[in-house]
Amino acid sequence: MYQLLPPPPRNRQVDLAEVYAYPAGAPRWVRANMVATVDGAATAGGKSEGISGEADKRIFGVLRALADVVLVGAGTVRAEQYRPTRVREQYQAARAAAGQAPTAAIAVVSRAMDLDWSQPLFTSPAVPTIVLTATDAPQDRIDAAAEAGAEVIAAGTGQVDLALAVERLAERGLGRILCEGGPHLLGQLAAAGKLDELCLSVAPQLRGGDSMRILAGPDLTEGLPLILHSLLTEDGFLFARYLVGGTHGSAAGSGKEG
Ligand SMILES: NC(=O)c1ccc[n+]([C@@H]2O[C@H](COP(=O)([O-])OP(=O)(O)OC[C@H]3O[C@@H](n4cnc5c(N)ncnc54)[C@H](OP(=O)(O)O)[C@@H]3O)[C@@H](O)[C@H]2O)c1
Repeated sequence: MYQLLPPPPRNRQVDLAEVYAYPAGAPRWVRANMVATVDGAATAGGKSEGISGEADKRIFGVLRALADVVLVGAGTVRAEQYRPTRVREQYQAARAAAGQAPTAAIAVVSRAMDLDWSQPLFTSPAVPTIVLTATDAPQDRIDAAAEAGAEVIAAGTGQVDLALAVERLAERGLGRILCEGGPHLLGQLAAAGKLDELCLSVAPQLRGGDSMRILAGPDLTEGLPLILHSLLTEDGFLFARYLVGGTHGSAAGSGKEG
């Protein structure tokens, strides 16, 4: 792995935990992590697997190791058969020192609650899985989720109010939020003004076709300006860390490599 930006001092290994450190002292910080091809495809055959790579997976693991909670849309949980998170041993001491649970909880955003509650994601995570839903979600499914062991949190009526959902997570001490998509959830987060940072892996391939891009749904009429904070490369992939423009820039982690 090489760090292109900011220019690193010579002969220093990239320390991914340092490059991607959450900003110190921020009570809540919403980071998204997505992968796309050079022509912007975020899916290949309905999944992201075909466009990911070894280094991308490594960064994916580090971002999970740093997070309090992984926020993910039900569409992605269904498409990718989500499982509970696991944190590599090398990050466990740092998590304990930071007062974090041994591994990040997964928080699934769903209105329909049409999920397979018998999956390990709900029945056997190290930290209970959270389901963020609407106050008027189907009661039998809320009951099924709770019975399976999930913590159900209502935030908003009709659909999940994502600004409120972020508050609900932060109130529980889960302020370091990692959104793993999918594009519809991420589009809404950005539209709600709740996105602080985007970690984007650009895979060295073209896909064509009509795959989704990394954001879907609402049109961000004004455009959301991003500030490039760091850029790494390995195996032809580019790994960019962007901060959402405006006041966020000064709050971010150092981005130094170590
Ligand atoms: N390239 C990448 O980095 C990446 C990352 C993640 C996913 N993906 C791919 O993206 C695809 C899935 O993405 P997607 O955009 O279709 O799905 P998604 O954003 O993961 O999930 C959409 C679903 O989330 C729930 N949801 C989202 N916003 C909500 C709100 N405000 N209130 C209530 N529920 C809400 C709804 O679930 P209910 O229908 O249950 O109500 C909705 O149908 C898959 O192919 C996956 O492989 C790619």
